[in-house]
Amino acid sequence: SDVPVVLNEPVRTYEPGSSEVNNLISTYKKMWNEKVEIPMIINGKQVKTDTKVQLQSPQDHAHDFGFYYKGDMSHVDEAINTALAARQKWADLAWEQRVSIFLKAADLFAGPYRDKINAATMIGQSKNVHQTEIDAACEFIDFLRFNVEFVREMYAEQPISDEGMWNRVEYRPLEGFTFAVTPFNFTAISGNLPSCMAMLGNVVLWKPSDKQIFSANIIMEVFREAGLPDGVINMVFTDGKETAEKVLQHPDFAGLHFTGSTKVFQSMWKQIGDNIHKYKTYPRIVGETGGKDFVIAHPSAHPEAVATGLVRGAFEYQGQKCSAASRAYIPKSLWNAVKSSMEAQLKTIKIGSPEDPSNFVNAVIDKNSFEKCKGYIERAKSSKDAEVIFGGNCDDSKGWFVEPTVILASDAHYESICEEIFGPILSIYVYEDEDWSKTLKLVDETSPYALTGAVFSQDRYAIEEAYKALENAAGNFYINDKPTGAVVGQQPFGGARASGTNDKAGSKMNLMRWVSVRTIKETF
Ligand code: ALA
Repeated sequence: SDVPVVLNEPVRTYEPGSSEVNNLISTYKKMWNEKVEIPMIINGKQVKTDTKVQLQSPQDHAHDFGFYYKGDMSHVDEAINTALAARQKWADLAWEQRVSIFLKAADLFAGPYRDKINAATMIGQSKNVHQTEIDAACEFIDFLRFNVEFVREMYAEQPISDEGMWNRVEYRPLEGFTFAVTPFNFTAISGNLPSCMAMLGNVVLWKPSDKQIFSANIIMEVFREAGLPDGVINMVFTDGKETAEKVLQHPDFAGLHFTGSTKVFQSMWKQIGDNIHKYKTYPRIVGETGGKDFVIAHPSAHPEAVATGLVRGAFEYQGQKCSAASRAYIPKSLWNAVKSSMEAQLKTIKIGSPEDPSNFVNAVIDKNSFEKCKGYIERAKSSKDAEVIFGGNCDDSKGWFVEPTVILASDAHYESICEEIFGPILSIYVYEDEDWSKTLKLVDETSPYALTGAVFSQDRYAIEEAYKALENAAGNFYINDKPTGAVVGQQPFGGARASGTNDKAGSKMNLMRWVSVRTIKETF
């Protein structure tokens, strides 16, 4: 069968004063005051408990906009049993019937639910209008539609047959249940992880980050409205560590689809290793984890392009994209020009709540993140190896606001150049122009992570040199552009080293991990 032709969902521009932006902001204001109550969803039923946890917005920590019901390990058990009970019927359903549900969900997100999923992301995760549009609306819709197309292509791939026989492969779902553990920073990634596994006939236990529950709840609402049968995706709000321990001991655990911190992923991988003899089948493990994404400019680069790439790459969504530029290497001959262009751009940046669409920078996700950023800034202020050259102010009187901050480090191994911060802090190291090749080596050697990276240059030989020297240092490598903003279907996204298993979200490479192929040879 053919599925509808896939194109990227057009990004709404939300021009000031347009009805698009006015409608979104009025949805935001309405939802801000609604006091939502969010139950878990197990076997298609709303599950409420005696433990209510308040939902607080990062931009105003005194304002709670409702609560969610927290579950315990009995709910995890129930969700697993429910998923396993739903498995056979779901796996046996014709694939066209399964994927249609997600195509319908994409249309619902593109139309009637667009403002709602965007506003929930703005309130719960503190994203501005433009950042939420490219995430909760467009990237998520693209994941759903492109994955359907990739499922079709994948299922169509068949082996050749010799005379007197018919060889074929059958793309079966994994035997057991799958586990989706999703992050706060992208609503799209959160929705993609459980749904792409479900499209392929898998049943899922989904544990979203407790910082993303508001938008996760809308994702479930839409999947259900689109016709997702009971038990196929079960969403629980439980303690992460305890849940992982429970799930990863289960004999029917068949796959982990994870986006989050390197530390948590590594601990889960270790538990899977320890429990390996307990499982019916070797579990699939796919993870996208940390990053310390680099930008390196060659002396031939255009300084304004470098500055714009840094300002956008480092500070959009407060630097909380796994792909965010967080360290930059600038040649001495360009530094003054890059610095003054950055300064001019940073001066125009407004900080505040997403309720005002002209605020480019909003709040970081929570107190922990705020304190972490503040610590790096304070240590840089008193370090002999670094100085804070822009920003550096932190204000938690209303929300978790950290000013876009640039640290200039004189030591290429200074802590903020090497460690993941996940906040609006960019560290810069200025190198001598003649050290270009040495600096490429340095970037590679100081990359325990390998998610994204960018080179800026107008010299084709220099681009080629960077391309080779950094071949293992970034799963997504950008030439003359910022390292963020991968678009589904255009730049398959994922990294290696401590950044993950590099299975490229929103691509066939990822979907292949969630099938267990049966080869059939029939002889005539
Ligand atoms: N699409 C997101 C980015 O590349 C993950 O920033």
